[in-house]
Amino acid sequence: MSAVWLLLATTLLCATHAPQCHAACVEVDSDTEAVAGQGFKLGCISCKMRGEVPATASVDWFFKAKGESEYEHIYNYEDKTPTITDERFEDRLDWNGSKKTNDLQDGSIYILNVTYNDSGVYQCFFKRTLSYTYYEFNTNATKIIHINVVAKATRGMASILSEVMMYVSIIGLQLWLVVEMVYCYRKIAAAGEEALRESAAEYLAIASESKDNCVGVQVAE
Ligand SMILES: *[C@@H]1O[C@H](CO)[C@@H](O)[C@H](O)[C@H]1NC(C)=O
Ligand SMILES: *[C@@H]1O[C@H](CO)[C@@H](O)[C@H](O)[C@H]1NC(C)=O
Ligand SMILES: *[C@@H]1O[C@H](CO)[C@@H](O)[C@H](O)[C@H]1NC(C)=O
Ligand SMILES: *[C@@H]1O[C@H](CO)[C@@H](O)[C@H](O)[C@H]1NC(C)=O
Repeated sequence: MSAVWLLLATTLLCATHAPQCHAACVEVDSDTEAVAGQGFKLGCISCKMRGEVPATASVDWFFKAKGESEYEHIYNYEDKTPTITDERFEDRLDWNGSKKTNDLQDGSIYILNVTYNDSGVYQCFFKRTLSYTYYEFNTNATKIIHINVVAKATRGMASILSEVMMYVSIIGLQLWLVVEMVYCYRKIAAAGEEALRESAAEYLAIASESKDNCVGVQVAE
């Protein structure tokens, strides 16, 4: 649901600010609920503080399974080369991050065929070197993602709530429309009657006036 909103927001943004669209980097939190047997994208985005400064970055992923106390190094991406460094994830991790560049801002990976054993804490580590004209500057960024593997996707509270709100607002707006229509109809009908009465009165006034005139004329004669 939030992904849909983001897409909508980016589309709107692109429509109104077309030239800047490609440069935009937004740090979105990863989903935290994976479904067993399906694929899952572990999201990790680290934006450059200064978008215009060229940089190179590498990404490492660490994993601490449920019940374990140590992080294990599971994945490395550097020089456009992915390496899976843990046999539990052999042939199961795909790069979903920035493509065809060493200037990585999206370090997301994709788990194929999630198992219950994939539950636990993931850590994504960005190591970035910003290249200024006369010097280089190193920055690191770390993100922690708690993943829970479930049998079937459960809908988040926010998603349910937003759907309820949608119906409430649709029904509310329609009720308002009906009330407004009735109100306007009555007002117009009343105004019509009023106008009728007014024009009738006017007609009478004119009639009597002309009669007066006639009387006047007659008197003058
Ligand atoms: C992520 O990788 C998976 C597996 O390679 C692929 O099916 C999926 O389309 C990719 N998603 C994105 C957003 O790149
Ligand atoms: C996913 O894993 C299950 C058991 O771990 C296996 O039976 C199934 O064939 C796998 N599916 C794919 C697409 O790899
Ligand atoms: C999950 O872990 C348990 C215990 O370490 C192991 O016996 C089991 O084979 C694992 N399952 C999968 C699908 O890797
Ligand atoms: C970034 O991480 C590397 C490797 O862990 C470390 O050597 C370096 O000191 C860190 N740099 C900063 C600015 O924290």
